[in-house]
Amino acid sequence: MDIYSIEKDVFMISEKLLEARNWEVEEEKKTNPLKRPVFHLSSRVGWMNDPNGFSIYNGEIHLFYQHFPYKSVWGPMHWAHAVSKDFVTWEYLPEALAPDTDADNGGCFSGSAVTLKDGKHMLMYTGVVPSNVKGKMIQTQCLAFGDGINYTKYENNPILTQKDLPQGLSAYDFRDPKMNVESDGSLTAVIGGCKDDMDGRILYYGSQDGIHWNLISVLAENNHRFGTMWECPDFFELDGKKVLLCSPMNMVKDDEYSDGHGTLCLIGELDENNKLVEESNQAIDYGVDFYATQTLLAPDGRRIMVAWMQSWHTLYEDREDLSWYGLMTLPRELSIRNGRLYQQPVREIEGYRTNKVSYEDVEITYECELRGVEGRSLDLNIDLDLSECDSFLMKFAKKDDAFISLLYDSETNDLTFDRSNANGRVTSIDCRSCKVRKQDDYLSLRILMDKYSFECFINDGEQTLTFTYDTNLDYKGISFSANGMAKANIVAYTLEKN
Ligand code: FRU
Repeated sequence: MDIYSIEKDVFMISEKLLEARNWEVEEEKKTNPLKRPVFHLSSRVGWMNDPNGFSIYNGEIHLFYQHFPYKSVWGPMHWAHAVSKDFVTWEYLPEALAPDTDADNGGCFSGSAVTLKDGKHMLMYTGVVPSNVKGKMIQTQCLAFGDGINYTKYENNPILTQKDLPQGLSAYDFRDPKMNVESDGSLTAVIGGCKDDMDGRILYYGSQDGIHWNLISVLAENNHRFGTMWECPDFFELDGKKVLLCSPMNMVKDDEYSDGHGTLCLIGELDENNKLVEESNQAIDYGVDFYATQTLLAPDGRRIMVAWMQSWHTLYEDREDLSWYGLMTLPRELSIRNGRLYQQPVREIEGYRTNKVSYEDVEITYECELRGVEGRSLDLNIDLDLSECDSFLMKFAKKDDAFISLLYDSETNDLTFDRSNANGRVTSIDCRSCKVRKQDDYLSLRILMDKYSFECFINDGEQTLTFTYDTNLDYKGISFSANGMAKANIVAYTLEKN
């Protein structure tokens, strides 16, 4: 089939997809809009995981996500769909994909989207089907073509299978294609893979027409350094460097990385064999609720990243009662400075600031609250001079004995968040520390809170710390205290939609 010959506006909607579409419309009516975050995309109904198909199409920002509409737990994967004009306010569109063909009847796993030369929006996703081996599913890559609302799956799916894998790579772990349109109009895609011993590989494919793909190279090899399988890769150029982002499973803790499902950024150059020559590596985020990043290139040249604001090992233990579960991060602008990945919240969020409150040179010793600095949907800018204190403690979402906290220890440079006193839903990890990369007595934090989430940009985005918490929305207090004396400049805004 010629991809350019699909008839305009003719789409086959399967029973399964229709069922999901009807379900999400009806169930959404039962959810309380006031309990939704203000400026983060949340699952419309049911379960959400990875961002998929993050792309600009016909002038709008499209964001799909891994979705199980029927419960707040993972299940056969669908793709839900939302659209935005500014990365901040999202409108839901009808469910885009359901696991309804022979190539994907076990699930439509993660993938990406590009615009083809003929104007079609093309999705590439991982189709999952049962195998002969118990507990294992065969994973292949599939296509769907659409107009930004409806998508028709390619009749000859799958288009990349085990036959297209280098020798020794597993057919059970071949997933999460992230496409890129190259400057000559051709397409490339990075796809996660691994050897039979689960050692991660990133496979690099190329295509002229979107349908026929060839292996270009094994772009990167884990060689047992960072966890096992590398999920959700993304590969792009940024500030003159090549950047590979991915989410390794089963990481082992060291000074830079934490245990479990984590994130990895490799920065380097591409050699003549199309292999990444690594110059540095770092975690993308140092919190616990951050996984499966995906980026797009905005028309104004910004490389913008979004991630699932959760991770597999930090799910709320008790969540059956929730009608929706799952959040995306606020999209972040990326840059490379001094060989490191920096992140800033998308600048569009500044348009949602109201009620500015500012304090200059406040001397903080005993626990204090600052008039006007409270709430659950805030943009807080805190610049600290810590030369006269050993540690600095901030409490948020506070009421009586309940709070979440961020503690900075000047001796060790550890910034530790703790949700063990939150008095909310329970997860297996309450606490995590991040070594702040700095030598002096100053610390600058930009904190975005949105009802259930906390995204902290440290020292102009050199590091970030992301986590979620689910507590009563009346818990709004914020306090500051120092062991010694800290000098603070604080600017706080409420984030609100008109
Ligand atoms: C990452 C991931 C992907 C997979 C998807 C399934 O969170 O495991 O590798 O495509 O989730 O929902």
